[in-house]
Amino acid sequence: MELLTLALPKGRPLAPTVALLERAGLASPRLREAERSLVTVDPDLGLRYVLARPADVPTYVEHGAADLGIVGKDVLLEARPLVYELLDLGYLRCRLVVAGPAGADPDRLLGSGVHRRVATKFPRVAEAYFRSRGLPVEVIPLAGSVEVAPQVGLADLIVDIVETGRTLRENGLVPLATIAESTARLIANRASYRLKGDRLAAIVQALREVTRHAAAAP
Ligand code: PRP
Repeated sequence: MELLTLALPKGRPLAPTVALLERAGLASPRLREAERSLVTVDPDLGLRYVLARPADVPTYVEHGAADLGIVGKDVLLEARPLVYELLDLGYLRCRLVVAGPAGADPDRLLGSGVHRRVATKFPRVAEAYFRSRGLPVEVIPLAGSVEVAPQVGLADLIVDIVETGRTLRENGLVPLATIAESTARLIANRASYRLKGDRLAAIVQALREVTRHAAAAP
């Protein structure tokens, strides 16, 4: 059987992703042990798993190095890859928000006529959000720990992911506006979708079944 390649997000999203694949009968037993070896092959399932940084998953899929990928909608909104988004998998739920210092006047921070600097791992999302509101903005791209920026005067606001809200709170920040809700998505390479349609459809169906049941659970 020809191998299908699945790009999976490593780090925090990996454990719930492997759990989902297990429920769908799509996880190799080797995957649990293989968190350090970044490529795992399961000939019985006909699957090869590539563990990638979440932000790199769309790149593997867009270029056809992976037929399918699992990645957060937040990453897709930023990367805007040329891929097909096949399924909302419903987990890795979080929000992309604008946040600023607790106690600061939100009308001033988000008002017009203010020069505001926004630190973020999501420069395109931030740029588009403020531009669509006619608010001038200087976006300061960072690779992580964005919550530090307002505390040391690097930025007035941040655009970042909020899951539990704990990181914002612990850094004296509050959410001011929601840009988008995000959940994990199944994406496909466009050529794979045409050329390997039957095999992809079987995987989509298996994942749809388990995510539907999860959505129906109390
Ligand atoms: C993400 C995000 C926030 C945090 C939100 O960071 O950028 O910092 O998680 O989670 P919470 O609302 O549950 O506190 P991540 O752990 O991916 O690290 P990074 O900032 O270094 O990228």
